Amino acid sequence: MSNRLTLPISRRAVLSGAAGAATLAVAPGLRAPAIAQNAPLKVGLMLPYTGTYAKLGKFIDDGFRLYVEQKGGKLGGREITFVQVDDESKPEAATDNMNRLVGREKADVVIGTVHSGVAMAMVKVARDTKTLLIIPNAGANDATGPACAPNVFRSSFSNWQPNFPMGKVMFDAGHKNVATITWKYAAGAEQMNAFKEGFTKAGGKVVEELTLPFPEVEFQALITRIAQLKPDAVHCFFAGGGAVKFVKDYAAAGLGKTIPLYGAGFLTDGTLEAQGEAATGIKTTLHYADNLDIPANLAFLDAFKKRTGNIGDIYAVQGYDAAALLDAGMTAVGGDDKQRDKMIAAMGAAKIDSPRGPLSFNKAHNPIQNIYLREVRNGRNELVSIAQKDVDDPARGCKLV
Ligand code: PHB
Repeated sequence: MSNRLTLPISRRAVLSGAAGAATLAVAPGLRAPAIAQNAPLKVGLMLPYTGTYAKLGKFIDDGFRLYVEQKGGKLGGREITFVQVDDESKPEAATDNMNRLVGREKADVVIGTVHSGVAMAMVKVARDTKTLLIIPNAGANDATGPACAPNVFRSSFSNWQPNFPMGKVMFDAGHKNVATITWKYAAGAEQMNAFKEGFTKAGGKVVEELTLPFPEVEFQALITRIAQLKPDAVHCFFAGGGAVKFVKDYAAAGLGKTIPLYGAGFLTDGTLEAQGEAATGIKTTLHYADNLDIPANLAFLDAFKKRTGNIGDIYAVQGYDAAALLDAGMTAVGGDDKQRDKMIAAMGAAKIDSPRGPLSFNKAHNPIQNIYLREVRNGRNELVSIAQKDVDDPARGCKLV
């Protein structure tokens, strides 16, 4: 098994006196006295460490570890160890990878992943084995829809959430006929469908829905098609390495000035340095903005920079909040994760003072959060307005709701 590494947190990596971890509100009565635990809690990190989503996986990993380090390497008084698997964003390997983590590696909790197709395979194994799973990115609507389960949580978003509010934003900006472009897989389809739902509800028309296979980056023919169609604007979903290339290709084709490019915020999150000037002026919607001027964000960005030398982004925030969510559960049971029902109840009731703003969870265990409109200015995703406050996913098909 070449893609596995076991990495206990090193003592030296534990930050002393760093900015405090996000604060948690655990409902009264759910807090248990700390109990002595000998064996550390084993956290399985199943993330993409290679491929087009490699940087996303790395930032989630860094965010998660930062939170644990700020808590002295313990959650709920229990020491944490890690085992990590590179899922390569390959759905075909996902079931085996997840089975390995919960079987051979005996992970107590799994944190993963980025890609919606991989995440759905993980959800199936988590449901079958009753393993506690926290999804720190993948937006697959079904994970907190028809496949929702008491032991499955998400610290990120559903694919519906950042895209539905964009429909009204673009219509109100005067765009009546819009083309969409994305990768042809669950996340792309669900995100563009959610945009279409919001946009047609507002009165707009989606004139063409362009796709290419994941993770291909040969955009030229599709960009030529957009130039022929001449829609009022374009809305898209791309992320990671693919998003960098798409934004550059779109600008190089000279379309940026005539046919404004919009997107789900993944288009410009964690990618701006590489996109450079090509990204300037792009408007996106997401549950984060770089310059959110709230204490939790300022402290997080400072601590993340000190730990990694990098500027935190939404992926780092989602990793950090996955650890905060686990902390809410572990604190409630004094580190005894065998008190499963109590732990899950505390996680479901958690109110996290996240770098993204207030974060709570619906009955399907999906975040309730603000969706912000941002614009790329000065190499940053700057806040324009709150596109929609406290956005709750409809959780269609979830029997827990
Ligand atoms: C997904 O596959 O759900 C996905 C991947 C990358 C993103 C957002 C969503 O940035």
